[in-house]
Amino acid sequence: MNRKKIFDLVKDELKQVESEFARQRNSSVPTINEIGKYIQEGGGKRIRPSLLLLCTKLCGEVNDSAIRLAAVVEFIHTATLVHDDIIDGARVRRGRSSVNHRWGNQITVLAGDWLYMQSFYVALQERNFKILDILIDLTQRMVEGELIQLSINGTSSVREQDVIGIAERKTAYLFSGCARIGGLLGQISDQQEKALGEYGLSVGLAFQITDDILDFSSSEGTLGKPVGSDLKEGKITLPLVYLLQACTDEEARKIKTVLIKKEFHSSSQAEILSMMKKYRVLEKAKTCAEGFALRAQSVLNCFPSSPYRQALKEIPEMILVRNQ
Ligand code: IPE
Ligand code: IPE
Ligand code: MG
Ligand code: MG
Repeated sequence: MNRKKIFDLVKDELKQVESEFARQRNSSVPTINEIGKYIQEGGGKRIRPSLLLLCTKLCGEVNDSAIRLAAVVEFIHTATLVHDDIIDGARVRRGRSSVNHRWGNQITVLAGDWLYMQSFYVALQERNFKILDILIDLTQRMVEGELIQLSINGTSSVREQDVIGIAERKTAYLFSGCARIGGLLGQISDQQEKALGEYGLSVGLAFQITDDILDFSSSEGTLGKPVGSDLKEGKITLPLVYLLQACTDEEARKIKTVLIKKEFHSSSQAEILSMMKKYRVLEKAKTCAEGFALRAQSVLNCFPSSPYRQALKEIPEMILVRNQ
């Protein structure tokens, strides 16, 4: 199954999610309307709602609740991106000006707050405490992930398990929540719910590690957001953990200077990239992401075979080779 075939399985439902998203972003405040419209038109891969819908179809039928909740998870994701771009000082998102670059930080903080609250307002309409519990938990974890990352910003003594712990919080719990909520909307045993949670968590980790690799290997034109930015923002990600483990003291000194000074003066971006090539650290990070992808695939075996299970099994591989 290729990428198109996977998404074709939920194509009609994704259209409904877009309409629901457009309804939910409506406000009587014009600035919120403008920003909501701008964000939605910017596109994005819609991987989280797709995951939720595929898991619903794996375990039952898609109904209005599934459409609403698929829009809710995209809303939560959007709110995080909007705040993340302020934190990272990013000027580009989805191939155009980020909301903070266009409207300024003050308005953007408030727009993000509004999006978060709107997500919970819509989710509350389901009157399903278990689902609310999952959504609140994962949102809190995302904020914790961003906070932990900030609290270690500029430091280099970061271990593999630290960066994986951050990726789990800031990205993987949302994926896990999407998979679990999707399953919970159908018929599902406790064991299967656990499996979907585990599946989403592993897919999310593979996704974030791939994102961290792309920050070094891709270009802004392809990715639609700045590259080479993690190191310059003082952020240690998995490829950098591996690089610092493998390089010489002299090379480590250069990397740490970029990390602290937050500019590529002591060492150019090209020099860091050639160190990465020399020690094959992007390959090593990819191997780590592959491990999570394999884990994701294996936990789905407790579900009967179906096109949806097959699509869910192929998503991790698709993520590993993604270029956007
Ligand atoms: C970006 O997520 C943030 C990360 C978790 C790395 P996506 O890559 O899913 O962003 P869009 O929605 O497609 O723009
Ligand atoms: C994604 O981390 C964190 C979020 C949960 C928004 P990044 O900082 O790597 O995301 P990008 O690269 O800006 O999309
Ligand atoms: Mg960012
Ligand atoms: Mg990134």
